[in-house]
Amino acid sequence: MKTQKFIEREERYGAHNYHPLPVVLDKGEGPYVWDVEGKRYYDFLSAYSAVNQGHCHPKIVKAMTKQAKKLTLTSRAFYNSVLGEFEEYVTRYFGYDKVLPMNTGAEGVETALKLARKWAYNVKGTAEDEAVIVTCEGNFHGRTITVVSFSTDPDARKGYGPYTPGFVTIPYNDPDALEKTLEDNKNIAAFLVEPIQGEAGVNVPDDGYLKKVRDLCSKHNVLFIADEVQTGIARTGKLLACHHEEVRPDILILGKALSGGVYPVSAVLADNEIMLTIKPGEHGSTFGGNPIAARVAIAALEVVKEEKLAERAEKLGKIFRKEFSSIPSEMIVKVRGKGLLNAVVIRPKGGKTAWDVCVAMKENGVLAKPTHGHIIRFAPPLVIKEKELRDAMERIKGTFKQFE
Ligand SMILES: Cc1ncc(COP(=O)(O)O)c(C=O)c1O
Repeated sequence: MKTQKFIEREERYGAHNYHPLPVVLDKGEGPYVWDVEGKRYYDFLSAYSAVNQGHCHPKIVKAMTKQAKKLTLTSRAFYNSVLGEFEEYVTRYFGYDKVLPMNTGAEGVETALKLARKWAYNVKGTAEDEAVIVTCEGNFHGRTITVVSFSTDPDARKGYGPYTPGFVTIPYNDPDALEKTLEDNKNIAAFLVEPIQGEAGVNVPDDGYLKKVRDLCSKHNVLFIADEVQTGIARTGKLLACHHEEVRPDILILGKALSGGVYPVSAVLADNEIMLTIKPGEHGSTFGGNPIAARVAIAALEVVKEEKLAERAEKLGKIFRKEFSSIPSEMIVKVRGKGLLNAVVIRPKGGKTAWDVCVAMKENGVLAKPTHGHIIRFAPPLVIKEKELRDAMERIKGTFKQFE
């Protein structure tokens, strides 16, 4: 079956909640994917940074298939022989007392919000139903009703009301706005923030922002919640993006690359004072913490250390930004990012947009996708070799040349 047939079938039987690039992928290995026609591409999206360890990493796939033949799911009605090992491993890895495992990023965010509210009522002493959580303009934390309630993106939010109350939104990268909000409202439980806003177009805050956030949250007895679902696990050149400023959030949300993209695994990490506010029966998930997820996550985290993926992201990210900045194209307004999480702001030319650039790059063997119309995110698997990155850059350069 050829590309068009696959696309037509999805169009006919699938909901139209995505607008994919016209390529049908069939196989992946490391930084590469192949379409149904057998053409090979560099994957510069990495499933929105889930496939940091590269497609079908043999160690992770082996961990999954081995466990799949033994025990897949018990629910949390019973203990299982792998969950404790994962819990010990991941809490030591990131330095927290406890972990609460879930499946998707959005569930991780919901879990963090529930923890913050419980903590406000049980520890901080906020009056019942009065807790407020501060979020940022331009945020992306997932797609549930509560999460889109505090989205500022009309596409994500419009038509899904009535919205969940209890959230206020302030500008991103604005410590003064945070300070004023915390001073004015004594009912604030937490500040939820992405250390770099990924979906918004890789908005990197000013140096020192996260440090100021940490200080302000501590000063006002407010929890600092870092959503590192996209930025975490080596993507930005450190294990966590928060590590660039040596800050430790009170609640850490992870997802995506926690499994290397082979299985949905997310997790929320916090210390006892916060985590133990949720008691048996008060939160959970049938699949959260299942034996396959636990095995996969351990393997995925081991790969990050064994293959020094954070160091690779740091080094290759510098090459990426240097090479990109040297492309002589009027369409390139700005190149920004950290590690291998980068974005390029595109100025349309002669009616050609970021979408047209992505379609042309696809023809030249590089897959990337526009976000918010005029921004292209570039986030290859972190296992990409320097030689491969440079080859991909030549293809990207050639693409921009086509538009001159
Ligand atoms: C920062 C952030 N949080 C949460 C999510 C939601 O994750 P999921 O799609 O797994 O629910 C995403 C997804 O892109 C994200 O980038």
